[in-house]
Amino acid sequence: MTKEAKRLKIEEISNQLRTHNHNYYVLSESTISDYDFDMLLEELQKLEEQFPEFAFEASPTKRVGGEITKNFKTVKHKSRMLSLGNSYSKEDIEAFETRIKKLVENELEYICELKYDGVAIGITYKKGKLFQALTRGDGVQGDDITANVKTIRSIPLQLKGDDYPDEFEIRGELFYPKDVFENLNKEREEAGEDLYANARNSASGTLKMLDSRIVAKRKLDCYLYFVLGDNLPFKTHYDSIKKAGQWGFKVPTEKHQLIKKCTTIDEVFDFITYWAKERGNLNFEIDGIVIKVNDYARQEEIGFTAKTPKWAIAYKFKAEKVATKLLEITYQVGRTGAITPVANLEPVLLAGTTIRRASLHNADQIEKLDIRVNDTVFVEKGGEIIPKIVGVELTQRDMFSVPTDYIKVCPKCETALVRKEGDAKHFCPNEWGCAPQISGKMQHFISRKAMNIDGLGEETIDLLYEQDLAKNIADLYELTFDQLFELESFKEKKSKNIIEGLITSKQIPFERVLYGIGIRFVGETVAKKLAKQFKNIDNIINASLEELVSADEIGDKIAESILQFFSTESNVELINNLKAHGLQFELSEDQLANSTTKLEGFIFVVSGVFSKFSRDELKNLIEQNGGKVSGSISKKTSYIVAGENMGPSKLAKAEKLEVSIINEDQFLDILS
Ligand code: IVH
Repeated sequence: MTKEAKRLKIEEISNQLRTHNHNYYVLSESTISDYDFDMLLEELQKLEEQFPEFAFEASPTKRVGGEITKNFKTVKHKSRMLSLGNSYSKEDIEAFETRIKKLVENELEYICELKYDGVAIGITYKKGKLFQALTRGDGVQGDDITANVKTIRSIPLQLKGDDYPDEFEIRGELFYPKDVFENLNKEREEAGEDLYANARNSASGTLKMLDSRIVAKRKLDCYLYFVLGDNLPFKTHYDSIKKAGQWGFKVPTEKHQLIKKCTTIDEVFDFITYWAKERGNLNFEIDGIVIKVNDYARQEEIGFTAKTPKWAIAYKFKAEKVATKLLEITYQVGRTGAITPVANLEPVLLAGTTIRRASLHNADQIEKLDIRVNDTVFVEKGGEIIPKIVGVELTQRDMFSVPTDYIKVCPKCETALVRKEGDAKHFCPNEWGCAPQISGKMQHFISRKAMNIDGLGEETIDLLYEQDLAKNIADLYELTFDQLFELESFKEKKSKNIIEGLITSKQIPFERVLYGIGIRFVGETVAKKLAKQFKNIDNIINASLEELVSADEIGDKIAESILQFFSTESNVELINNLKAHGLQFELSEDQLANSTTKLEGFIFVVSGVFSKFSRDELKNLIEQNGGKVSGSISKKTSYIVAGENMGPSKLAKAEKLEVSIINEDQFLDILS
């Protein structure tokens, strides 16, 4: 290829990727498989490395992050980032209309939008390219978070079309989609980390991360709601949003009723009532509705107060709040020994569900709100997953009540609790002698993503523990059929199943054993990385801090946790015990030899439920044999491995694209 041909190729791939990206992240339409997208991106990366002079400043390769910020630069906003006045009832909104009608003569048109519950940002574009992104800060100046914002796929790096102003700013709200946030928490739970309580705060924290590569993986999303600049080419707010959509921004559309033109307050209120009921069905959090005067000329006539535009107002949904009595504070001990105080409440109805318990988070929280047993407390369900206690009705406090004394010893094993600097929670350090920690560890060990032991479930583990039959993971492998069969309600089949399940589990690959032993912060992904890079457990046990952190994706926190785990005598003993039982503590020959290349060049889509494998096992098998797994069907898909209940839309697509559908047996045939 000539140099010019390479330049053209770079341009062509950049445009293709930009379009696919826009289709997927802004329009929610998938026009390429993940695999093909990654291949194109890789090709572009290689070309750009070869010819950096041809790489676009706003190249799609910039999405993966890489820039590390040491200190966020503070930058003054070109125009202040205002907030909105609040309203809580129809009367409030009618009063808003009365106020502005005194200032304008013409008929008014309103635009209703959702009030996204996220983090406000302002992004400046120059000549169609993303130039700078700032946080709100104090409204006058904010932090320069450009490197992080560039990784967010629904925000264009390069605008489409050519009718955008030379320079303008667009403001919007960044947030975690609900499913992304839930997954994030699931991963944290698996790694034994504290859960994030609230999506908004987490989004805000993510934006302030110093390493943009981590932000790139976090799947933040953004809706835009306000265009600013000199001599904008439109006359109304509505037109500005429409146009912004054409330039490539994610903006609310009428199709999904996310935006509505209204001329009366009754219509405005219909929109409010609709979303007050429907908001649970959105994949992001909203905390109200924003009502804006549409016409720029009218906006100008109406003007601003010091902090808010007078031509717009927010209607806030009520965070549902109820009062109830705090009956008792109990303390839960998690698998990692973390103590969580729990408020046991007089049952009360809140946002459609009966609430009996609420998290009290930690000792500081109890002290800050001065929460005491027998108090009447206010429980609220806001952006948080678990309802929280937001205050105490002091006028109803019993005159003999005393401040809550936080427990000093573990409620289960009575070991003195510790609280390390920087930790919000107290911990029970008795890792191997504290019942909930041990059975929690065993539960984790047998779970589907770890050892996936047939026949063993939570209740059985608890029973085995109580009966002194299994006091740690290794004890499970000492169990005999007779011991199980003697237990109440254990029939022959059940006992046999468990023993067989345990024997089969000895073939579970190293990375899953590593995940299963439950080192704090070593989740599924980290375990995979460790296994791949260190190859066996002894290399991990003997690794220094430096060696650990030099491994891919292992940071200080994880490395320290690993070191600490193996510096405990009983943990090393446990590993030796498990080794003696024949569990896998090194990569298998196959894995070492990088498996086979039998499936090289084939792209598989896996769909449905299988009888011989779990879906993950099947995917691993494909990858180990050199094949690729893709999430969506395209013309390039070689085979769809279909189990029971394959989704009807996938089936239709497969038929349309004439991709072969095979079952798991046919797949095994191909393999052999
Ligand atoms: S317009 C001058 N529209 O709510 C008008 N703001 O409480 C500026 N917000 O600071 C804001 N959704 O961070 C607007 N559809 C929407 C919004 C929205 C959420 C946020 C924004 C603002 C805050 C005010």
